[in-house]
Amino acid sequence: MTVLPSVVAAIGGTPLVELGRISDELELEGRLLAKLDYLNPGFSKKDRAARSIIEQARASGALAEGQTVVELTSGNMGTGLAIVCAVMGHPFVAVMSTGNSEERARMMRALGAEVVLVPQAKGSRRGEVSGEDLALVEEAAQRITTERGAFRADQFALPGNADAHAAGTAPEIWEQSDGQVTAFCDFVGSGGTLGGAARYLLPRGVRVYAVEPDNPAHPIQGGGYAMAHLPQLDGADLAGTVTVSGAEATENARLLAKTEGIFGGYSAGANLAAAVRLLQGAEKGGVVAFLVCDSGLKYLSTDLWE
Ligand SMILES: Cc1ncc(COP(=O)(O)O)c(C=O)c1O
Repeated sequence: MTVLPSVVAAIGGTPLVELGRISDELELEGRLLAKLDYLNPGFSKKDRAARSIIEQARASGALAEGQTVVELTSGNMGTGLAIVCAVMGHPFVAVMSTGNSEERARMMRALGAEVVLVPQAKGSRRGEVSGEDLALVEEAAQRITTERGAFRADQFALPGNADAHAAGTAPEIWEQSDGQVTAFCDFVGSGGTLGGAARYLLPRGVRVYAVEPDNPAHPIQGGGYAMAHLPQLDGADLAGTVTVSGAEATENARLLAKTEGIFGGYSAGANLAAAVRLLQGAEKGGVVAFLVCDSGLKYLSTDLWE
């Protein structure tokens, strides 16, 4: 038995689960493995990136003791940062689009964060955060960082994001599957998960696929921003991109909950839809792993569970 020094030490080391019931139901050739990253302290995989970015910044001196931290977020990165900042003694300001679900802002506030909500661009719909919405959030985050003399925990630019997955998520998947995984796919937001996982998995012969929405107006919070360049993916030699619709993401999140008892969000559904498609095509007979990126509890106010 071990007593951890803080909840930050409980980030990572999540279970990898065989989805035998879904494989049987869909008569798939091959295996589906789900990494339950919704079991992290902030109920998402982004806890990993938050811890890694803050620890690297403290180690390099880019972040001074007690200095304020600012970051834009769809809610999950902000929750991870709120947890890490609470434990390490940094005030934290989360900048988020009003397009993201309300429970995310509530949770960050509960964890001591100041939450600045940025109205969506004209014509954008609630629950659908576009690249244009994100540009407005970025502008606000830059302004607040300057005003407060803060450290910007920039998930799109800082190497700590991808490093967390190259050093944590991917080696965990590799070891938990006894080196049997043959493909990995992930819905892209910052690209930190995919880029970091690719760095570890590609040299081991694992093919790595991006998951993207089929349409700019989609309900899959946390990514699918159609950005021209994602630095976190630089050098990642992807085997391809799997495109999924919002409806497929929704159906597959529901399937995951009903059939396997795994309560994830939209992007988990998008990843499952992509993994199934891979097993039906390019990766037939293989072992495809993906992340359950966050908890279904974060979507109780949305159409996901109506
Ligand atoms: C629920 C969810 N899924 C997927 C992603 C995308 O992950 P990444 O930023 O590592 O590409 C995020 C990012 O915030 C997220 O919150």
